[in-house]
Amino acid sequence: MKIISSPLELKEYLKTLCGDPEKKVGFVPTMGALHEGHISLIKKARGENEVLVVSIFLNPTQFLAGEDLDKYPRRDEADKKICELGGVDVLFFPHAKDMYGEDEVSLLAPKVRGYVLEGTSRPGHFNGVLTVIMKLLHLVNPHKAYFGKKDAQQLNLIQLMVKQMFMDVIVVPVDTVREKDGLALSSRNAYLSSQERQEALKISASLYLAGKMVSKNVLTTKEIVHAMRETLAPLEISYVAIVNRDFEYIEKVEIGNSIILVEAKVGTTRLLDNIWL
Ligand code: PAJ
Repeated sequence: MKIISSPLELKEYLKTLCGDPEKKVGFVPTMGALHEGHISLIKKARGENEVLVVSIFLNPTQFLAGEDLDKYPRRDEADKKICELGGVDVLFFPHAKDMYGEDEVSLLAPKVRGYVLEGTSRPGHFNGVLTVIMKLLHLVNPHKAYFGKKDAQQLNLIQLMVKQMFMDVIVVPVDTVREKDGLALSSRNAYLSSQERQEALKISASLYLAGKMVSKNVLTTKEIVHAMRETLAPLEISYVAIVNRDFEYIEKVEIGNSIILVEAKVGTTRLLDNIWL
């Protein structure tokens, strides 16, 4: 596995490695502290491409002032081992100073879809996500890029960017990986005490309840959201929302076109989860 930190060196290296344009390049962008969720993206990408590039970059521009940028878990050595074992060909590990200049060109998230749900709690967050993903996609120039459904709104906005900017990359959504007891894997789970981890299970429990209601043909979103909020109590809820795959609020669950999302605070940690129905 080749580890590269310079953006321009990465571009040059990939040019020589992928001299044949038929060679398929898969790309998995991450912020590190890798867990089984990231590993499932890496495995899928490994199986579908000849060259596999993973990036680990704790992107400062997607963190708002006062958020957890400084305490975000870092496990650089373990991450490198995970990538090596996962058959990664190139690990891109840039420094922020090489990714951003002084007076930056940047992307703006769409005014509606970028400012609902996660965008309400974190206004401007998606500007940083879209800008860094645009930069990374230009550097790697992959055929396919892999993103988790766990961050459903992020995935949706990246798909929108790729479409609206006429980019060629294929965005591949990957299912959420969970612990046996239902907790969705997240690098931020590292912040939870054992008691908080227990409380966090209310989040997946509320989504399972929603799935059960839908399977019993309860489709009215108001009713489902109400029951979910009861399950989540006393957690501090940022939102419980039911949207279609274009992230528009809906009154009735449409099977095959709905996503139920929760963001709740456990202690001081904000956790996201969702199910696609
Ligand atoms: P990060 O949180 O490290 O996640 C990297 C990728 O792993 C994202 O596509 C995310 O959706 C996916 N992922 C995280 N937890 C998962 C789980 N339990 N199951 C399946 N996939 C999971 O998301 C980011 O980084 C950043 O915003 C990034 C896209 C890299 C831009 O900086």
